[in-house]
Amino acid sequence: MLKGKKIILGVCGSIAAYKSALLVRELVKNGAQVKVIMTDAAKEFIGPLTLATVSKNPVESSFVKNDQGEWTNHVELGLWADLMLIAPASANTIGKLANGLCDNLLTATYLSARCPVVIAPAMDLDMYQHPSVLGNLDALKSFGNQIIDAEHGELASGLVGKGRMAEPEHITTYLESYFGRSQALAGKKVLITAGPTLEHLDPVRFIGNHSSGKMGYEIANRCYEQGAEVTIVSGPVQVKKDYDAINVVSVQSADEMLDATLNHFPDTDIAIFAAAVADYKPKTKADQKIKKNDDSMSIELVKNKDIAKEMGLIKSQNKKQFTVGFALETNNEEENARKKLEKKNFDMIVLNSLQDKGAGFKHNTNKISIIDRNNITKFELKSKAEVAYDIVESIIERL
Ligand code: PMT
Repeated sequence: MLKGKKIILGVCGSIAAYKSALLVRELVKNGAQVKVIMTDAAKEFIGPLTLATVSKNPVESSFVKNDQGEWTNHVELGLWADLMLIAPASANTIGKLANGLCDNLLTATYLSARCPVVIAPAMDLDMYQHPSVLGNLDALKSFGNQIIDAEHGELASGLVGKGRMAEPEHITTYLESYFGRSQALAGKKVLITAGPTLEHLDPVRFIGNHSSGKMGYEIANRCYEQGAEVTIVSGPVQVKKDYDAINVVSVQSADEMLDATLNHFPDTDIAIFAAAVADYKPKTKADQKIKKNDDSMSIELVKNKDIAKEMGLIKSQNKKQFTVGFALETNNEEENARKKLEKKNFDMIVLNSLQDKGAGFKHNTNKISIIDRNNITKFELKSKAEVAYDIVESIIERL
């Protein structure tokens, strides 16, 4: 997939720069031509000679080549590339790119490049969560750049959290999938339910749950990268999609989620039910805010329709619709997941257990098992972006 592709690798000042040599080696091994641009800060962490040797190309870092007036043509470099990858991207460079600042060869080449740009951030966990960095990353996404989310693990500071640059082999896989994105799910329509549902008691109160939508949205991103046309039927969430072309239908209650899913399902090739749908809703919704008159009050709840089960009943064998459920369990996990697989007529179910640290609601990580009628495959704790990758690969294998 990378054979013959021309890639500019921008390396910034970060301890993760030590991984750049491995990254270049991976890219070159897979057939890419790589030219490296380093910032001055990057040279504190890894020597240009190393990157020149593994890339088999001179490393550039300055506008001026020598005192004979020869300059490094950043415009030419930008136009040469099929793709510009900035890895590791430091908070400083991310800030410059987001704001059009251009005080070094890397940032000038970025502004000149007409090719897609992929950015793999690396920094300490609190820096990565800082609103200014998050805002800059959002700005970069809105310009059409792609972000390979940082991974979870031990950081140079000794803290543990999200901020490690994605591993070189994950970045390589991402690029392979990007260049081959017309393939695996091209022509397929994918429908994903994501997030929580809110069941209103009155205009200001509701019964809800902790789903953030991260899992469902990451699956949507991965499906899109594989060439699918993607619709998310989404409960109320803060999380954002990575690609404008992903269609989001926003809903609040389970009934609304059911209606929207019913609308899209007949036209869908693959449906993935990642939402945490409320099983019950209040029997009545008060028109006005309920007053606190009594010492106690009871709320009568009635069952919501099971969206996944309803779709399982109308699933078309002719169209070979493929459905994937989730099971969020606390005990007898595998047995319960297998029951759901049968009861809801899924082709595959993703089990996550609240017993596993870092799995389930809200976290940026998840730990899953993928179960079908013949097999169970257990995965390690990973970022939800990587978990989504495993889920989508498993679907592709079974289609
Ligand atoms: O959103 P995040 O914070 O990233 O968290 C992700 C997640 C924990 C919500 C996700 O990984 C997950 O497990 N989603 C399913 C949660 C759930 O409701 O599981 P369940 O075991 O209760 O339901 C089984 C399946 O039926 C699920 O596919 C669910 O979407 C579906 N269902 C359930 C009830 C209902 N009324 N309609 C449904 O479609």
